[in-house]
Amino acid sequence: MTWWRDAVVYQIYPRSFRDSNGDGIGDLDGVRQQLPYLSWLGVDALWLSPVYPSPMRDFGYDVSDYIGIDPVFGTLEDFDELVREAHELGLRVILDWVPNHTSSDHPWFVDSRSSRTSDHRDWYVWRDAKPDGALPNNWIRAWSDEPAWTWDDATEQYYLHCFLPSQPDLDWSNVEVRQAMHQTMRFWLDRGVDGLRMDVIHLLGKDLDADDPADLRALSHVPLNDVPVTHDYVRAIRSVLDGYEGERVSVGEVYLIDPDRVAQYYGDGDELHLSFNFAPLFTPWRADAWAAVIARTMDSLEPRGAWPTWVLCNHDNARIATRLHGDVAAVRSALVLLLTLRGTPFLYAGEELGLEDAVIAPERVVDPGGRDGCRAPIPWTASPDHGWSGEPWLPFVERASELSVDSQLVDEGSMLHFTRTVLDLRRRSTALRSGALEGLHVEGEVLVFDRVGDDGRLRVMVNFSADGEVTTPHELPLLSSRADHQSGILRAREAIVFEVLNDRASVTH
Ligand code: NOJ
Repeated sequence: MTWWRDAVVYQIYPRSFRDSNGDGIGDLDGVRQQLPYLSWLGVDALWLSPVYPSPMRDFGYDVSDYIGIDPVFGTLEDFDELVREAHELGLRVILDWVPNHTSSDHPWFVDSRSSRTSDHRDWYVWRDAKPDGALPNNWIRAWSDEPAWTWDDATEQYYLHCFLPSQPDLDWSNVEVRQAMHQTMRFWLDRGVDGLRMDVIHLLGKDLDADDPADLRALSHVPLNDVPVTHDYVRAIRSVLDGYEGERVSVGEVYLIDPDRVAQYYGDGDELHLSFNFAPLFTPWRADAWAAVIARTMDSLEPRGAWPTWVLCNHDNARIATRLHGDVAAVRSALVLLLTLRGTPFLYAGEELGLEDAVIAPERVVDPGGRDGCRAPIPWTASPDHGWSGEPWLPFVERASELSVDSQLVDEGSMLHFTRTVLDLRRRSTALRSGALEGLHVEGEVLVFDRVGDDGRLRVMVNFSADGEVTTPHELPLLSSRADHQSGILRAREAIVFEVLNDRASVTH
């Protein structure tokens, strides 16, 4: 049963979603309370960003205990209850799993750094300085121009960290590490989670002898690391998942940007079920650019029977509404595109409200990677506290009252209702959920493609132009992104979906 092919996955950044206890930080009980909202919206699965115990230097992506829940989010019982209630509502739960690195507070690393002969020394990547005193290689850590190596005075070696110095990389070439990490997967799979989102999974294997090319070093080492042995590790991870009933899904964060390289991580159907495809996040809002990225993605994945994913927003990047400079019409058309492409779409909490990033004053900055803006708390109500009884950990977006869930619920024309409408159309259409994607092309500034299933042929047309409109032969689209849709016209920044009853339907200028 490939439920994950049909699903729309909703990403929750738990700190920012819903606070149930007034400490200004979202928590598991907050998520649980909002399950009916998510069910009403019409998504199929939730992906929870990390909720494990953590010193929160990277807000949970620095795990100090893989088999617990950080008290700020609640308890294991809260987690179990959340999964139970989600399942009751037909919602699947995908948990974030962070296998490449731990927190430096994790007992494994505390032991590892305690002496060169400690039990866990070789669970992490320790290296001597080169004979001339130089660093082991030229890798740069994320979010900086600093080395990915930190010198440890006590044991006089460097340790590797592709992210913060407080996020030491595990050494996956060590079988004990692999076994221990498989155990952490089992802990959650046994508790009934439906899958795991796998943080920077392409980083697991490393060739420490390979310096990064000088002209690409500024990218940090993360998007450059891609070595064959990682595929062995991923196959073993897949076997753990395959040992469970109910098709537990793996969604890999393969942060390599190039769709051809990302496709390799699907293996021959024996590695990842799904992999994020980030190229669209960095694709300018132009019909030709989108046609190219869609074609490239399909060409890379389809020959190996791999199923694509689509994402416009997440907790690491500026939101689509910010990237589109608050152009609401364009944002609505982008949502139509996201939800009509062939593949599994990921919707980031707040995207259904059309949220832009919050403006973060210098004194409110908390993230070492500069990503606070897209992590602003969800505004639930129009009242000044927006449903957060304590001062939230990050400021709200501008116009939070107007954009709040409550305000949008009472406005049938809102982004929230529109998102629900598009999700509903997708759910009712086999063509949109699983049909082939055909006829991808660009006419002027209009992107056109068909989705073809047993239940018919749907045509999607997205007008990327900010001022040009075109005429179309159709009368009644199943859906338009604009409330002021005019029969027979595709307006500026409008996206429509209509049924093709004969082959004559095409755009004319
Ligand atoms: C990718 C995650 O999405 C990001 O939030 C995190 O900081 C890094 N991996 C390190 O875990």
